[in-house]
Amino acid sequence: MEIITSVAQMQQRCLTARAAGSRIVLVPTMGFLHEGHLSLLWEGKRRGDLLVLSLFVNPTQFGQGEDLDSYPRNLEGDAAAAREVGVDLLFAPTPQEMYPSGYASYVHVEGLTERLCGASRPSHFRGVTTVVCKLFGIVQPQLALFGLKDFQQLAVIRRMTVDLNLPVEIVGMPIVREVDGLAMSSRNSYLSPRERRQAQALSAAIDLARQAVAKGETRVSDILQDVRRRIGQEPDAVIDYVQICNAHSLREVVHIDRDSVLLLAVHIGKTRLIDNSYLFEEDCSS
Ligand code: PAJ
Repeated sequence: MEIITSVAQMQQRCLTARAAGSRIVLVPTMGFLHEGHLSLLWEGKRRGDLLVLSLFVNPTQFGQGEDLDSYPRNLEGDAAAAREVGVDLLFAPTPQEMYPSGYASYVHVEGLTERLCGASRPSHFRGVTTVVCKLFGIVQPQLALFGLKDFQQLAVIRRMTVDLNLPVEIVGMPIVREVDGLAMSSRNSYLSPRERRQAQALSAAIDLARQAVAKGETRVSDILQDVRRRIGQEPDAVIDYVQICNAHSLREVVHIDRDSVLLLAVHIGKTRLIDNSYLFEEDCSS
């Protein structure tokens, strides 16, 4: 595995590989890898010839007062895990390399980015789409993998890719969870043992909602009430949003159907966690 920190070198290496006929697969991450990230890498390995992992804690997607400085980092551990999966190129640029002085260009997806996480993190998705677009330009992948864990992020990236005619196939991968149901996240490392126990409420609330739908419940308001009540049982939990939305438009729905997704963002102490799930039993893709 080659570790590359320079944009110019990375782009050259990928252009050469493409010219030689390689199918390039990109898995963009902010590092501190866990099984969720690794599931994307294993699938990427299966689907291409040259597997590229990017590790970059992207400053433009963090708002003021958010956890940019404290975001967990472990380049050595990540490199070892990447080697084990068979990553070919690990791209780990510095912020200065990605955003040199004079940098002035941003990609903004309208509409989808204003709801849910976009409401409480107004500049977040602009940072995500900008860095992902840059990574696509640097790596020139035929395929890129993203997790359904960040459901809105995936929808926004799909929108950007279609709207800007980027020649990249976007693949969404199921959420990988801890044994008790907590969705894996680099930010779970912030949780104290007491908070970690309470964090289980997110997936427990999703299970309640899915059970209610399985029994025939279709009233969104009743389901949301149960979800809020379950999360409210935890003393350190503060809800940012709990919504049931259409999977494509991300607009709130009144009646449940096969495209309905329950999306949650909850603070447990100082840590903001997100989770989501389709509500129908057969659609357990998340
Ligand atoms: P990061 O949070 O590191 O996540 C990298 C990728 O791993 C994303 O596509 C995310 O959805 C996926 N992922 C995270 N936890 C997962 C889980 N439990 N199961 C399955 N997939 C999971 O998302 C980002 O980084 C950044 O916003 C990025 C796209 C890299 C742009 O900076």
